[in-house]
Amino acid sequence: MHHVKSEIKTKKISSNGKSSIQREKNSGVVWEYSKSIESKDHINLKSKYELFIGGKRVKTKKYFNTVNPSNEEVIAKISYASKEDVNKAVLSAEKAYNKVWSMTPPKEKAKYIFRIARMMQEKARELAVIESMDGGKPIKESKSLDVPLAIAHFFYYAGWADKLAYAKQFLGKKPEPIGVVGQIIPWNFPLLMAAWKIAPALACGNTVVIKSAETTPLTLYKLAEIIEEAGLPEGVVNIISGDGETGSYIVNHPKVRKIAFTGSTEVGKIIMRSVAGTDKKVTLELGGKAANIIFDDAPVDQAVEGIINGIYFNQGHVCCAGSRLFVQESIADTVIKKLKRRINTLKVGDPLDKNTDVGAINSRMQLNKIKKLVQSGIDDGCRIYQSASTLPGKGYWFKPTFFTDVSQSNRIAQEEIFGPVLSVLTFRTPKEAIEKANNTPYGLSAGVWTDKGSKIFKVLNEMKAGVVWSNTYNKFNPASPFGGYKESGFGREGGLHGLLEYLK
Ligand code: NAI
Ligand code: MG
Repeated sequence: MHHVKSEIKTKKISSNGKSSIQREKNSGVVWEYSKSIESKDHINLKSKYELFIGGKRVKTKKYFNTVNPSNEEVIAKISYASKEDVNKAVLSAEKAYNKVWSMTPPKEKAKYIFRIARMMQEKARELAVIESMDGGKPIKESKSLDVPLAIAHFFYYAGWADKLAYAKQFLGKKPEPIGVVGQIIPWNFPLLMAAWKIAPALACGNTVVIKSAETTPLTLYKLAEIIEEAGLPEGVVNIISGDGETGSYIVNHPKVRKIAFTGSTEVGKIIMRSVAGTDKKVTLELGGKAANIIFDDAPVDQAVEGIINGIYFNQGHVCCAGSRLFVQESIADTVIKKLKRRINTLKVGDPLDKNTDVGAINSRMQLNKIKKLVQSGIDDGCRIYQSASTLPGKGYWFKPTFFTDVSQSNRIAQEEIFGPVLSVLTFRTPKEAIEKANNTPYGLSAGVWTDKGSKIFKVLNEMKAGVVWSNTYNKFNPASPFGGYKESGFGREGGLHGLLEYLK
């Protein structure tokens, strides 16, 4: 399983009838991890999911399959929403807005949102397992990040529902909802993205039509069950599934007053063209090519952990992934040596195994895109390092990878790969680091690693990025706003800023 130096032998140790795991360099023995598979006994999945419109299951003409990317097995059949179906969903949201939700007192709205959050907590384990099955992410991540953070967003915005008028942004103004909002989300954090969008929309008094991404519809339909059980009035949240065409019907529907989109920059541009000349509100959270900058005075081991987390978390399917590493020249050799060692300890495999660090690539399409971009790096003469992990036979997989000898103009330093692939570049002075880091059409996030507070503030102030982490990476909190500059989009999600986007 692991990359083993020739002098290190692999040994399987049996204890309690199971092979156990450990890696010990000094003794010259590498023990293998025994499997620790999260149980699926407790989950409840149907073989077919219909649209959730007006509190009812609505059958469609067409269906598509959602597969488990780690073994290519079909998990369920999913309704494909046509133009008429989208229309039904929007009309149902409009009716719920006019007849019920706009008349529901804020503190009653809050109760519903709190109830959704609490019911999600009760089903947290089931949601985590299904998220990992449908999308390929490691169970330890869906359990410790996706699901709890999704719940935290519902709790956070439930608290705001009856206090909007007291938020400093709105003092002296009457906070007014927009009406029907259309929300389109990607496949990398399905439940979490749904929470980011639904919770503030409801708290501000809007009604929702939300569409999941092609490959990951399941947790949204589990959320539909929760919303139904929570007794949210029919039509306040409508959950549908389909592809880009379905998404475009939401965007272009005249009764949709606001679009919240997370996904590719390419589709973000299409959406902007579609809404130009209308008075629809739009927020776009698009791609990124974040710089993670390490100065020579940084705590190097901690920084290496940050780099690993920054790029291999969720297989690198993260819009704010630290996909460009800028390391100060004087410590470059040390950092690269440590990185090489560290990627070989990452366990790639079954997303439901609790030991797994890197799961399956979300789809064959995404895998092909990663392969193509990695090939361009090789063709450009960059030097590639990959972990020596053995990949499972079935499913979509890619080894943790990084490139050195990368120059700014290479595609792998410019384009979003959205996979477990890091480009390592170097710099000499802080000025050079900032210039190089900002040399990208994107501007979503960045990281800075240094022992010096003054350097942190300098970089913070000069980075053209919506979020800058210092001496850490990929940290999220419902109270803190998230969003980008330039081609990474505009508008903020999370915090008070996130409320503004759902009010007139
Ligand atoms: P995508 O942008 O096509 O899909 C995201 C969502 O938008 C999905 O729900 C999709 O059905 C919907 N959509 C697609 N076309 C649409 C249209 N014309 N109008 C309205 N909705 C539409 O992203 P895709 O194809 O899944 O991935 C392609 C690349 O995009 C990835 O390789 C990655 O680089 C980037 N990406 C970035 C994300 C981010 O969070 N920054 C998320 C997903 C993808
Ligand atoms: Mg799937």
